[in-house]
Amino acid sequence: MGKHIGILTSGGDCPGLNAAIRGVARAGISAFDMRFIGFKNGFRGLAQDRTVKLEGEMLSGILTDGGTILGTSRDKPHKISVGGKTKNMTDAIIDNYERHHLDALVCLGGGGTQKNALRLKEAGLKVVTLPKTIDKDVGKTDITFGFDTALGIATEAIDRIHSTATSHSRVLVVEIMGHRAGWLALESGLAGGADVVLIPEIPYQTELVAEAIRERSKAGKHFSIVAVAEGAMTVSQAETIDGLLAQKVAADTKEEKAAVSAELSAFHEEHVTHTRKLTADIEAITGCETRLTILGHVQRGGTPSPFDRVLSTRLGTACAEFLADGGEGSMMAVCGNKIVPVPLEEVAGVKNLVDPACDTVRSAKLVGMCFGD
Ligand code: F6P
Repeated sequence: MGKHIGILTSGGDCPGLNAAIRGVARAGISAFDMRFIGFKNGFRGLAQDRTVKLEGEMLSGILTDGGTILGTSRDKPHKISVGGKTKNMTDAIIDNYERHHLDALVCLGGGGTQKNALRLKEAGLKVVTLPKTIDKDVGKTDITFGFDTALGIATEAIDRIHSTATSHSRVLVVEIMGHRAGWLALESGLAGGADVVLIPEIPYQTELVAEAIRERSKAGKHFSIVAVAEGAMTVSQAETIDGLLAQKVAADTKEEKAAVSAELSAFHEEHVTHTRKLTADIEAITGCETRLTILGHVQRGGTPSPFDRVLSTRLGTACAEFLADGGEGSMMAVCGNKIVPVPLEEVAGVKNLVDPACDTVRSAKLVGMCFGD
């Protein structure tokens, strides 16, 4: 009898999760005689032993489905809310891993999941992860599945917004997901021909954004598209964040650190409405009628693109081969044309952010895109 493998999906969902589950399990069952059990709703299901058998019918017809057949949650093994209290459920997770006589656990997730998987590795479990997220912000991999689909959705949205912006001679601000990374806004902005792109990695000045819009008007272009990453910040907001981060590093006591963390959280909570303010400011400064569109979760929904179906399947099957060879403790990463395992210690906490000096930003600037810097 081959190995018994557990699978869970954790963090925000994205297109390609089902294709990846199917890739791991189909390859594992047919080529390596493995058996699979799914845990529902991420680490919560593993802690509470809520399972589903992954075989036959369950793995059929899911390649093209969005979301995840296993359900997901943002719970962390060491912080799961049970009966209104937050508990460390690592011991329960280890018990369930042993109860099912698992040889390994496969976790499909983004940056947070990589950290949680490392915690379980350190607790003695054999864990392999796959990188998923529409944000493309997981370190040590060229790409994550889910990104390409979201890029297609955001680009189509910008294309559609173009015609209405032109008809009404308006400025259209489009808020695009990406957490604290600007990949999705940058690439969809470039693909959709946005006039301004604002990303967290390049703090902006509203006055410079307004200036670019006024210049377009002077040149006879009476509409503009502003693609804004949800995490984008003005120069002064970025300075506030940098200041708080420096205070956190310098804090001597646990209490001081906690106080600065609370200030940081409050800042980020308030920041979620920043595109409303930006929209109002652009209208006030330029005098152009300005509207805001927040794309939101539509970017994470629906069927995966062909690219994501192929990528998820390749990552999934490579994971099954790695497990069959006795591999563990790693994330399956995309490196050029290859899928390679990278130890979780090298991945956890490492973010893939846009380098302001990268080719894509340079190319965008050369075609006249304004970054507000
Ligand atoms: O990580 C994916 C993502 O969609 C981010 O782009 C976004 O900031 C976040 O998840 C939204 O999370 P939730 O669905 O929990 O509101």
